Amino acid sequence: MLLEGLRGTLNQSALEPSGPQAAKIASLWWFAFITASVVYLLTMGALWWAARRARRRETRGETLDDAAAEPKMTRGVTWATAATVVILLVFLVTDLSIGRTLSPVPDPHPLTIEVTGHQWWWEVAYADTSPHGRFTTANEIHVPVGRPILFVLQSQDVIHSIWVPNLAGKKDLIPGYTQSWWFQADTAGLYRGQCAEFCGLQHAKMALQVIAEPPDQYTRWVSQQRQPAVNATDPTASRGREVFLTGPCAMCHSIEGTSAGSHVGPDLTHLASRRTIAAGTLPNTRGALAGWIVDPQRIKPGTHMPPNQLKPQDLDALLTYLQTLK
Ligand code: CUA
Repeated sequence: MLLEGLRGTLNQSALEPSGPQAAKIASLWWFAFITASVVYLLTMGALWWAARRARRRETRGETLDDAAAEPKMTRGVTWATAATVVILLVFLVTDLSIGRTLSPVPDPHPLTIEVTGHQWWWEVAYADTSPHGRFTTANEIHVPVGRPILFVLQSQDVIHSIWVPNLAGKKDLIPGYTQSWWFQADTAGLYRGQCAEFCGLQHAKMALQVIAEPPDQYTRWVSQQRQPAVNATDPTASRGREVFLTGPCAMCHSIEGTSAGSHVGPDLTHLASRRTIAAGTLPNTRGALAGWIVDPQRIKPGTHMPPNQLKPQDLDALLTYLQTLK
């Protein structure tokens, strides 16, 4: 298994950056957090001091001489206002300058991956100069470590937003408009991402996983993904393949190397190599797959996949077939 050794920890934290983009964002976060904390402590300190002074004056029976106190108060308020304006300006300038350093895609020309948002899953296509080098997967993005990756973002339906906190900030996927986004993963690992723009009923169940791996492991994964689906030899799997190709599955899904070529739903050519199904909703196990095929509406109400009432032996054969799609 390619991912052996990486299994287990799924990272999702903007404060544990694993690449240059996320590191800049984390430093901005810490700067804002520390500044805001200092301002808060100073304000609370001043409040406490003023309250204590007023109480002391009260116990001593003194009254405040308004005429004498006014200029002092005016000076205090002026200084506090000036400090607030300066702090806000510093925030603005830091925010803008960090934002500017995030956008330019670095040279040399990075690896290009096209991500298309759908209600509610992610289509992931690996661009290549030759058509047979291109391949499509879903909800999992494998990347080599230490190399900038350029993403070309689009949407099929409504506005989505891609966010992988350990690697980069958010970027919207807008219908009819192409945006670019990039990150570099410096540490091998498993990073969870999430759609960050409300996009309908199942917005919360629109997750993705980024698998950052050493270059040789990544290359092996790419050559495996470029292969068409293995031809089922086992009789049950062959029967399952027939169920797939003659039933409703083939109306929406594609499997390279078969006659199924629809791109309404995720490409299933290497379904069994993926860790999860239904955009990070369920683990990719036989049981979860069965539940999903039979009644996806129970798991993700509103999803575009209809329920499939298959005969038990057909479902069993279909599951066996799907599990051969490594
Ligand atoms: Cu897609 Cu929220």
